[in-house]
Amino acid sequence: EVNVKGKSLLTLLDWSKEEIEAVLQKGVELKKERKEGELNTSLNGQTLGLIFEKSSTRTRVSFEAGMMQLGGNALYLNGQDLQIGRGESIHDTAKVLSEFIDAIMIRTFEHSKVEELAKYGSIPVINGLTDEFHPCQALADLMTIYEEKGTLKGLKVAYIGDGNNVAHSLMIACAKVGAHFSIACPKGYEPKEWIVNEARKIAEQQDANINIVENPVEAVQDSDAVYTDVWTSMGQEAENDIRLKAFSNYQVNDELVKHAKDDYLFLHCLPAHREEEVTASVIDGDNSYVFQQAGNRMHVQKALLQLILG
Ligand code: CP
Ligand code: NVA
Repeated sequence: EVNVKGKSLLTLLDWSKEEIEAVLQKGVELKKERKEGELNTSLNGQTLGLIFEKSSTRTRVSFEAGMMQLGGNALYLNGQDLQIGRGESIHDTAKVLSEFIDAIMIRTFEHSKVEELAKYGSIPVINGLTDEFHPCQALADLMTIYEEKGTLKGLKVAYIGDGNNVAHSLMIACAKVGAHFSIACPKGYEPKEWIVNEARKIAEQQDANINIVENPVEAVQDSDAVYTDVWTSMGQEAENDIRLKAFSNYQVNDELVKHAKDDYLFLHCLPAHREEEVTASVIDGDNSYVFQQAGNRMHVQKALLQLILG
């Protein structure tokens, strides 16, 4: 039995394989429960604060709706409207919010801000995306693959494109559950070395491999899932032109996915740019599970909330 009551989720590095599997299992349960119309008031009277310093559709709505479905409340807190936007410290903000609410989700730029919030607050902190990590996304990714394949261990997940926050978290998530992970990136856009090193240590214990290559065909070869994300992440808008050029050979298209297994899953965290990182033929094709994947954000985050707050 795992006990994660009061635990923060800053990155999946701090969560064990068993803890991650417990969240996934609960996510599947809560999804079924909702489909069957069962009422769940396990978080009655609890409030989750959602701090956003970047845009969001899925993260905001899935956390807000999810919290309501569990009988709790969610507060949308725009970073610009908070006193943080006028220079109040994370330290003081963490202390004050801990007096009012039961947990905080934050989406921001520097990962260190999330760590600071967790350090000085006395309530669990959930990372809703930083420049380095997107752990809630990776939980939904694992849940989707598990739903479709019935297992995670030994599968091959290919990621094509930018070695960014989404790639980092997916790599760690795969390592934890023993899925092989191959990532193809142009030179200069590889995942961060320290994160790769950490993920490799974890993967080794699960007999899984992490491969970093330049050739997308090599990464996709015989894979069970093909994943991509935008070439320009939030905060990198000024680099857009350079990035379009750098990633021009990294599009996920019909030609590339021929190298994956016939029943491969196409995954994307969304939002997507059709005909940039992925063609419409792939993202709107029969192998695409991107909307199920987006939907699973809510189920798996409800599971996370119930386990850390319930
Ligand atoms: N995938 C994801 O986190 O989407 P949003 O930016 O819309 O929250
Ligand atoms: N890598 C993207 C993910 C958005 C959900 C970004 O950081 O903008």
